[in-house]
Amino acid sequence: MAHTSELTGPDLAVGIAVADLTEDVPLLGHARGEPIVLVRTGAQVSAVGATCSHYGGPLAEGLVVGGTLRCPWHHACFDLSTGDAFGAPALNPIACYEVERRGDRVLVGPKKSRLPASPPTTSPQNVVILGAGAAGAAATERLRHLGYAGPITLIGNEAPGPVDRPNLSKDYLAGSAPEEWVPLRTRKFYDKINVTLMTDETAVELHLAPKSLLLGSGRTLSYDALLLGMGAEPVRLPIEGATLPHVFTLRTLGDARSIIAAAKSARRAVVVGSSFIGLEVAASLRARNLEVDVVSQDRLPLERVLGAQLGRFVQELHEAHGVRFHLATSLRAIHSNAVELEDGRTLAADLVVLGVGVRPRIALAEKAGLNVADGIIVDSFLRTSSPGIWAAGDIARYPEPRLGTSVRIEHWVVAERQGQAVARDMLGLGAPFNDVPFFWSQHYDVTLAYVGHAHTEAAIEVAGSLAKRDAAVIYRNAGHVTAVVTIGRDRQSLAIEAAFERNDRAAVDALLRR
Ligand SMILES: Cc1cc2nc3c(=O)[nH]c(=O)nc-3n(C[C@H](O)[C@H](O)[C@H](O)COP(=O)(O)OP(=O)(O)OC[C@H]3O[C@@H](n4cnc5c(N)ncnc54)[C@H](O)[C@@H]3O)c2cc1C
Ligand code: FES
Repeated sequence: MAHTSELTGPDLAVGIAVADLTEDVPLLGHARGEPIVLVRTGAQVSAVGATCSHYGGPLAEGLVVGGTLRCPWHHACFDLSTGDAFGAPALNPIACYEVERRGDRVLVGPKKSRLPASPPTTSPQNVVILGAGAAGAAATERLRHLGYAGPITLIGNEAPGPVDRPNLSKDYLAGSAPEEWVPLRTRKFYDKINVTLMTDETAVELHLAPKSLLLGSGRTLSYDALLLGMGAEPVRLPIEGATLPHVFTLRTLGDARSIIAAAKSARRAVVVGSSFIGLEVAASLRARNLEVDVVSQDRLPLERVLGAQLGRFVQELHEAHGVRFHLATSLRAIHSNAVELEDGRTLAADLVVLGVGVRPRIALAEKAGLNVADGIIVDSFLRTSSPGIWAAGDIARYPEPRLGTSVRIEHWVVAERQGQAVARDMLGLGAPFNDVPFFWSQHYDVTLAYVGHAHTEAAIEVAGSLAKRDAAVIYRNAGHVTAVVTIGRDRQSLAIEAAFERNDRAAVDALLRR
């Protein structure tokens, strides 16, 4: 998974001429055996580690935006002056180095030491985070990072605690990533930052006055500030056989372990649903040498989200790897060794995975009286209708500033970044949430990178060549570009994201004309 790079470029401990540094263009070099990226912005020169702390992406191929360096793979954002992981999905900092100026040259010195955060001016008496997932874990760490020293309780009902959920349908399910890579953090980590992590508690009631949560164990937990980040629940089809023991959904590490265990003795799998998770599961089960049939109501995989051309491309990619598609049909029933389609056909199946969508877990919030509508309604600061309660991630319906409408987004990076934004707001440092939705999806050796958010009725245009895996698929609503999917164009994806962030439509158009 990690990008392993031999040391290349100039020896920066010896130094290079400032004139060799192009403004805001990362330069890859090394010093004392470490790969380093040097960036000059005006007269300021920064030196940071060259390898992303998320999955090891090559930061020298990233983009410099306003004092940050962004990773080309999954858009993590690092502060160039400290190395801090400013924006998820990276949670750990990268090294940051002293830079010395000698005449017209710059030399990279030793690593800078990290300064402890100063205590925030606003500080809740305690923070409770309900949902130890992407949003909850990111909020927890950001609170500590910003110097919050009060009690934090992170409540979850999944062992071993927060996991790298996207990996569950990709490398871990395919057998190419060991289970050690799946937990986001160890319990030791939470002990060290003085966070109470619960991994087997389910909150069953939320009370707004007095502010408390009732847990399944009977315990009551008071909160001063509460983040709701309960995520979403996979849908189970209401058909005969949907609860048979060889039928699975995929959300948790436990689900992934069960599918892997079943795959060991299975020969044929049926995946129901041709959206991202269904297709990633299909690819991973092919990597385990199972025969895979995908059954979907859609005419083309991913068509509703990505359009026909990209849908067809993804279908052909999977077919080239041996996946068989049964489209524009649905399941009538699941039996112990086969599934029955609507048209009467049967497909042999020792293993069935349902990837037919998720529902936000909002029942607890709705019962407590929070405003909900296919998600918990929040304002631009991610605050719910009740003071002292925020919501983030898959359950939050928030105002998307570029669309002028509220959306609920099911992306890993959005959930983490919303968790980070809530942490800031809890400490009085909040700002309206302006991050551009981003997700990636992996199909064999092809990665799709999606920035923005398009309505379903978008006009779609393909620039470049899907066949050559060098393309940008452009989505326009009311004549404006609202989203772009790139294949093999990581820097373009980063640049478009930055232009969306500034709400600079002319820059988006210019970047797409290149
Ligand atoms: C297999 C898989 C692959 C994915 N791949 C990608 C990808 O490649 N790219 C991408 O952008 N997105 C991907 N996603 C989506 C992404 O994982 C989600 O958008 C993200 O996890 C949402 O984060 P969250 O914090 O809202 O919820 P979650 O991460 O689901 O966390 C919510 C947590 O709250 C807990 N919880 C819920 N209710 C309670 C309760 N009452 N009491 C206690 N605990 C509770 C849940 O058990 C869970 O641990 C994938 C999702 C799955 C399932
Ligand atoms: S490898 Fe850098 S963000 Fe994932």
